[in-house]
Amino acid sequence: MTAELITGIAELTTQAAESSHDSHDDNRLADAALVIENGRIAWIGPAADAPAADSEVNVHGRAVLPGWVDTHTHLVFAGDRAAEFEARMAGQRYAAGGIATTVAATRAASEADLVANARRLRREAAASGTTFLETKTGYGLDLATELRGARAAAEVADVVTFLGAHLVPPGIDRRDYLDLVTGPMLQAVAPHVDFIDAFCDTGAFDVDECREVLLAGRAAGLGLRLHGNQLGAGGGVRLAVELGCASVDHCNHLDDADVDALAGSDTVATLLPACDLSTRQPFPPARRLLDAGAHIALASNCNPGTSYTTSMPFCVATAVLQMGLTVREAVWAATRGAARAVGREHGPDAVGSLRIGGRADLQVLDAPSVAHLAYRPGVPLCVATWTEGVRADP
Ligand code: NIG
Repeated sequence: MTAELITGIAELTTQAAESSHDSHDDNRLADAALVIENGRIAWIGPAADAPAADSEVNVHGRAVLPGWVDTHTHLVFAGDRAAEFEARMAGQRYAAGGIATTVAATRAASEADLVANARRLRREAAASGTTFLETKTGYGLDLATELRGARAAAEVADVVTFLGAHLVPPGIDRRDYLDLVTGPMLQAVAPHVDFIDAFCDTGAFDVDECREVLLAGRAAGLGLRLHGNQLGAGGGVRLAVELGCASVDHCNHLDDADVDALAGSDTVATLLPACDLSTRQPFPPARRLLDAGAHIALASNCNPGTSYTTSMPFCVATAVLQMGLTVREAVWAATRGAARAVGREHGPDAVGSLRIGGRADLQVLDAPSVAHLAYRPGVPLCVATWTEGVRADP
């Protein structure tokens, strides 16, 4: 058991205090040091009081913060949809139907190819500071490919979500497909996944169908999350709140009742700014949600259709520059707020915060403060990460 001391931290963002508010400084220490021992944080405090350790890394005046917690990705797929993206940028609207293109490519891919592609993207995410990541199925949409996808996802990600209810695939009756998703498909994937999800939106599934899917998942012992209100207003957000989902993701089209429902609940609104840019959807009302008292998270939504990026710094910068969040609110939403969206905010396996006894998942920025994430958008600032105490240099 060796202890590693990190010194020279100009600004340490811990996210250990209970709030993201700018009005207090509990989450930010200047001139700090920390000790990692056995994959955990053993000590945090002023540099001047740092204890002796077996080894020392001096980060020379840089900022240290928790690694990003990316709680919405779709990394299990084959092929890409650059042509669809180009057509969209030329004026075509995004519609959920593009998912079928990726489904065809994914069904034709081997499990090894799916794992290799997902691993490539996980490595790419790690290089920009992501130390914890969720991913999902949802591009198989038949039993065999969803099962391959669930196993592939479990090899690559920390949290896995079953999204059989992503779209009704071509060639099967809608009712028959729902019976498959809530029956044999769910039974097959359940041992490999943590959450169940459904795409509750125009062109995908309606509220009653999503309720049926999520309740079947709950009966199988899975946590609940939902894609909602991405392409239009509808009952997705309220369904998520009604069922106590850990998270409802997208939230572009919210009315007052949706905002109030989220504010009065424990359901996290997971916002996906890179997707909004890539689909030219209006940004979700992030400021309104926070001011109303709702919990928010930021995630990359990395997928080949609507958001082909793994970059959480890009999402943080966009949330600050385009969605009205302060830097600290955006960083919170991409770390501790995100941890809440996958039920990992508290307890021994908590992520997204740096606390004594907690997981040593952290990143070093080539900058003196987190403000540079938005102040220098697009610049790759992450120079090192530790994941459960293991160092990697991008
Ligand atoms: O989160 N909204 C549904 N699913 C994905 C997009 C899927 C696709 O177009 O491939 C999303 O944006």
